[in-house]
Amino acid sequence: MSASIVVGGQWGDEGKAKIVDYLASQMDMVVRYQGGANAGHTVVANGEKFVFHLIPSGILYPKTECIIGNGVVFEPDAFLKEIEMIESRGIATKGRVFISSRAHVIMPYHKLLDGIQEKASNERIGTTKRGIGPAYADKAARTGVRIIDLINENALREKINMILPEKNLLLTHYGDKPLKADDIIAAYVAYGQQLKPYIEDVLFRINAAVRGNKRVLLEGAQGTSLDIDFGTYPYVTSSNPISAGACTGSGVPPNGIGEIVGAFKAYITRVGGGPMPTRLAKDEEAALREAGDEFGATTGRPRGCGWFDGVQARFSAIVNGFTTIALTKIDVLSDFDRVRICTGYRVGGKVIDNFPVDSEDLYRAEPVYEDMPGWKTDITKARSFNDLPPHAREYVRRLEAVIGVKIGIVSVGPDREAILLR
Ligand code: IMP
Repeated sequence: MSASIVVGGQWGDEGKAKIVDYLASQMDMVVRYQGGANAGHTVVANGEKFVFHLIPSGILYPKTECIIGNGVVFEPDAFLKEIEMIESRGIATKGRVFISSRAHVIMPYHKLLDGIQEKASNERIGTTKRGIGPAYADKAARTGVRIIDLINENALREKINMILPEKNLLLTHYGDKPLKADDIIAAYVAYGQQLKPYIEDVLFRINAAVRGNKRVLLEGAQGTSLDIDFGTYPYVTSSNPISAGACTGSGVPPNGIGEIVGAFKAYITRVGGGPMPTRLAKDEEAALREAGDEFGATTGRPRGCGWFDGVQARFSAIVNGFTTIALTKIDVLSDFDRVRICTGYRVGGKVIDNFPVDSEDLYRAEPVYEDMPGWKTDITKARSFNDLPPHAREYVRRLEAVIGVKIGIVSVGPDREAILLR
């Protein structure tokens, strides 16, 4: 058997956690492959709401192993708080949650520098200030601290003593106080002791599961247009949410991958800086934001909202190789008289249907819309595709044609049961 991947097709917040939670009921293992505590994955199970930042959304199924892969940048404090929250709700984590010893660790200077650098640039990127960019930058610069270093005090001391003087130069340049090496070493050695039962070179566990015909799901965070290579650079995160990132972030080789599920919201949202061609004007945006409760799960920031962007979705399908699509939050559109799908952009007098490389073109792009009648009916109780009103079914079919990939799953509400299979 081969591993499946769930990838965000847009700018994150597509409702991946709900889809992962649904698929995880049939999974032996769920692996998070990139990002960090910048993500906020919300699951509503039996009327209870859970928000996960680091631990895979499969944790609610007692037999599913949950793994934090090497591609994640790991924040010890966020993880330990999440473990506490999960255990306080009666869910066991020991022996079923594992952290890759190869994953990089978010250090105090990463968070400080993320905040300071954002402030200095007038919040240009609008990051979550969780230290994600600075931690991935250190990984690439080969000055990162890995999980394995937390259980080897001498190695950690050597690294911190080498890295910290440069970080302190930067911090003091921006008017912050320098950090003390001994304080950091003491705190992270203590984290190492707490984390020890969870740490492993999980590559072997994951690949043994894939080869042993276990059902393995690789869970992405953020989305394709936030990908550092294929997103709207520089308004992106610092990792690869796309399907290829699932291989480098977990150690499963490309020939170990089977299904690739693209998660798309039935409209679009974006949080943070950067272009968003189909963003709505203020009043209509406020109505959609309210209907969809579109506020960041990690930062609480109001999300920009707009109509479904078919240009972006087609690009996303090419880059990710989706084998199927999970469409979420279509119920949010139920109050609108008409719904719109963007099928092209008008840039400098020309209509284009390829997602442009240059973010400046995206800022200038005027969407070309196809309008469809709304369905004006509550659809949250629908449990099969045929339960949907005709206009809602037509909308799904039209999206499918625009993206060029079959929509296999439609989510019609936040609850676990509010899901239709086609
Ligand atoms: P960072 O990942 O914190 O560095 O933020 C970079 C960009 O990605 C910003 O625009 C963030 O708002 C966005 N971002 C990061 N994580 C998420 C997420 O989980 N959902 C949506 N946007 C995100």
